[in-house]
Amino acid sequence: MTRKGIILAGGEGTRLLPLTKDRSKQLLPIYNKPMIYYPLSILMLGGVKEILIITTPRDNKEFRNLLGDGSQWSLSISYEEQNNPNGIAQSLLIAENWLKGSSSVLLLGDNFFFGHGLPDLLKNTFNNSNGSTVFLHNVADPSRYGVANIDNNKNILDIVEKPSEFISNWAVTGLYCYDQDASNYVKEIEPSNRGELEITDLNNRYISENKMQAQFLGQGYTWLDMGTHESLLEASNFVKIIESRQGIKIADLDNIPINE
Ligand code: TTP
Repeated sequence: MTRKGIILAGGEGTRLLPLTKDRSKQLLPIYNKPMIYYPLSILMLGGVKEILIITTPRDNKEFRNLLGDGSQWSLSISYEEQNNPNGIAQSLLIAENWLKGSSSVLLLGDNFFFGHGLPDLLKNTFNNSNGSTVFLHNVADPSRYGVANIDNNKNILDIVEKPSEFISNWAVTGLYCYDQDASNYVKEIEPSNRGELEITDLNNRYISENKMQAQFLGQGYTWLDMGTHESLLEASNFVKIIESRQGIKIADLDNIPINE
């Protein structure tokens, strides 16, 4: 069964106020395209064609107007709503009926990935992930992220959310592969102190079942989350520099080769 893609594009975007007072963060411009184009291109580069976009009820119509049913890019795009931002893992409950028992790749709508060889890395991982896979990226300030505890054989021992003591520099990015068990596992998760179904709890469940792999995004890769004013501008500048200096187009959806 083919792997389906979920882009989680709800949330309140409080750190971007007032830009997000009347629109979704994921519709804001990153240089010359709406933010959602970037995660959408990641799924396309990985060969995923059936995609569910989860939005707030307020913004659903605007996403539909922007992306339609996806047929213009040989995709099939569906939409669901998340009534309240009750956590990233809730996306797998919202998607359960749509997944119909398929494995999935979940991607946060404000995550940006770029690097040489990324299409092959994505395709290989999406095709070969057993159980689940997280994509890890080296960061200078791990205390802001979910961080992976790695042993000498590069196995993940556990993931700690915003660790107060140093564990490693490997942050868990917003790109995850799951097998067909994910929605059922989420049903067994209790909301955290902040009232959310935490993706880290789901990932730790996979680790405890010995069903978690790590994909290390090394030095050649850039990962940004575009959730603050600074990172919004950084991402725009990054795209501008690559596009104008290297003549490469990033997230050029009309020209991404689709594997038939
Ligand atoms: P966050 O950046 O953690 O949350 P946010 O987008 O609401 O922003 P802020 O912290 O500034 O208030 O979310 C990361 C991504 O996940 C982002 O693309 C929004 C999405 N998200 C949801 O769609 N629903 C949720 O319940 C959560 C927690 C996040």
